[in-house]
Amino acid sequence: MSLNIAVMISGSGSNLQSIIDAIEKNSLKSEIKIVISNTKNAYGLVRAEKHGIKSRYLSKNNYNSPREYEEELLEILNNKKIDLIVLAGYLGIVPGEIIKHYKNKIINIHPSLIPSFCGKGFYGLTVHEKVLEYGVKVTGATTHFVDEGVDTGPIIMQEPFKIEDEITAEELQKEVLKIEHKILVETLGLIENKKLEINGRRVLIRR
Ligand code: GAR
Repeated sequence: MSLNIAVMISGSGSNLQSIIDAIEKNSLKSEIKIVISNTKNAYGLVRAEKHGIKSRYLSKNNYNSPREYEEELLEILNNKKIDLIVLAGYLGIVPGEIIKHYKNKIINIHPSLIPSFCGKGFYGLTVHEKVLEYGVKVTGATTHFVDEGVDTGPIIMQEPFKIEDEITAEELQKEVLKIEHKILVETLGLIENKKLEINGRRVLIRR
């Protein structure tokens, strides 16, 4: 099934790029209807433009109230008939109304094995610095459905990465990003093909 996707970003947009590439290679059937960034100069906005994808800079700071921002975002999503919202390096909080409205239709990619190294304050390079600081031997990436909490929704896919002694946080970030790109596209494939079944906190994959 082809889905109308909205991708929300804040930065470089390499995860966005992995979705664009998969669609262009016909590995995914869906269409990115809009890219929304809460950062004006996000490189992901340039990526969208390069591929002829509509984009918007939308920050809650430019609205008089959270409600106004929420309404604007909801209107954009409704106008584009969005079926699925992908948070791809989106470092903002999705308004509660949108989460309610798009229940089990918002996914996020996170650069650790949730429930470790996630939640408030765990984003970007910080995650990998904390991973090394703690001394865990394995990290990885997670895709999950988004609920009202931060990184708390049902887990869809996880893939581990074994940590060698010499690795730096920057190198770790690069390695984990490769995994992110892979499992994000795989997750979208599973959703397109209606292979996921949510059973409480467990997401069952029908192969
Ligand atoms: C990615 O590593 C993503 O998992 C992370 O931000 C990076 C964005 O990279 N997201 C979070 O930390 C969310 N808590 P990208 O802009 O190149 O896709």
